[in-house]
Amino acid sequence: MFESHTDLHLPGPTIVPPAVRSAIASGLEADTLNYRSAAFTELLKRVQDKLRRVVGSDGTPLILPGSGATGLEAGIRALVGRGDTAIVCSAGFFAEYAVAIVERLGAQAVRVEAEWGTAIDPTEVATALRAHPGARAVIATHCETSTGVVHDVRAIAESVTDSDAAFVVDAVSSLVSTELQADAWGIDMVLSASQKALMLPPGLAIATVSEKAWRAIGERPAETFALDLVGYREAAERGATPFTPNVPLIHGLDVACDLILKDGLDSSWRRHALLRDMTRDGVRALGLRPFAEDAHASSTLTTVALDDADAVRARLLHDHRFVVGGGLGRVAGRVVRLGHLGWTTPSGVLRMLAALEASLAREGHEVPLGAGVAAAQRRWLDTSVAQEPSRGS
Ligand SMILES: Cc1ncc(COP(=O)(O)O)c(C=O)c1O
Repeated sequence: MFESHTDLHLPGPTIVPPAVRSAIASGLEADTLNYRSAAFTELLKRVQDKLRRVVGSDGTPLILPGSGATGLEAGIRALVGRGDTAIVCSAGFFAEYAVAIVERLGAQAVRVEAEWGTAIDPTEVATALRAHPGARAVIATHCETSTGVVHDVRAIAESVTDSDAAFVVDAVSSLVSTELQADAWGIDMVLSASQKALMLPPGLAIATVSEKAWRAIGERPAETFALDLVGYREAAERGATPFTPNVPLIHGLDVACDLILKDGLDSSWRRHALLRDMTRDGVRALGLRPFAEDAHASSTLTTVALDDADAVRARLLHDHRFVVGGGLGRVAGRVVRLGHLGWTTPSGVLRMLAALEASLAREGHEVPLGAGVAAAQRRWLDTSVAQEPSRGS
């Protein structure tokens, strides 16, 4: 019986909290499934208000049925068409999704690149924009989920603000785990998805769009029907969707946003940063190397270089029912990706490190058992003490 319990430490999909599950179930009731109803309009408007706070954008958030890639395609398609140019910051597997979308639209993707494991240099984006002043969009991945690097989208936004290009950010795996303030930082489009730190099952794509981007979108007719953001906006402003929405997940999103906002976004960003630091200290104490450079390490996941990555992942699953991510693209088989986002706690990270230590030992690695857990505990204790209010007079 106990063997059936699985611990999910993927960088998405993540664990769905009990309150969110109940909310999703409530969205399956016969009377709630009718989305052409006053009750649904009320729900959608409430969720839009919460999402505005989560994304830091005053615009009307758009909720599309689909995965992260659906949102990316809808957003990029709205801005970029045949013969256009888009600048894509690329330093990993998921950034190449944006390149693929741009190229399939018949547009030119100009890459600004960095080594996998390192961050894009924002000054290179400025240089690319000078070389391609007609670029319709600059696209960056906030957290590159293949490498565990968080790119400095705030600094990149500063390079883009004075240009005609719209700045599009793939925040699929960073929203809620990593600070992001769309309007204040000058991000024109934030694209995200439900199955990461929003703590929902897969199935919703989320987009916010600035007025600058809406003006650019309005310059040409949409070449898509089901993914037309203008149609989504018109409906969203009435508290509706143009097509059948994923009603149960929107009920779940309502409650997930409550959990996040009640805790506070600051607190969420701090908690995720602690989980990151505990994980990095832990794996280093085991003699392993985090793949992402320290200065740009993601709070969503830690990618760890490991020659026998797939054997260790299989061992984690077999011996401990622990699911962690594998390598993607050019690092397939050479890294494990340890997720620490969403419904996750410091104790969860300690359990993950304990299972990792044992799995490494079983696979023949020389590991000082307990060292990873101890290093992570030390980080947790030091951070908790540092965050405690002063007990002085
Ligand atoms: C940064 C990033 N972008 C895009 C995607 C694609 O999302 P999906 O698989 O939901 O289409 C992912 C998925 O993990 C991601 O992490």
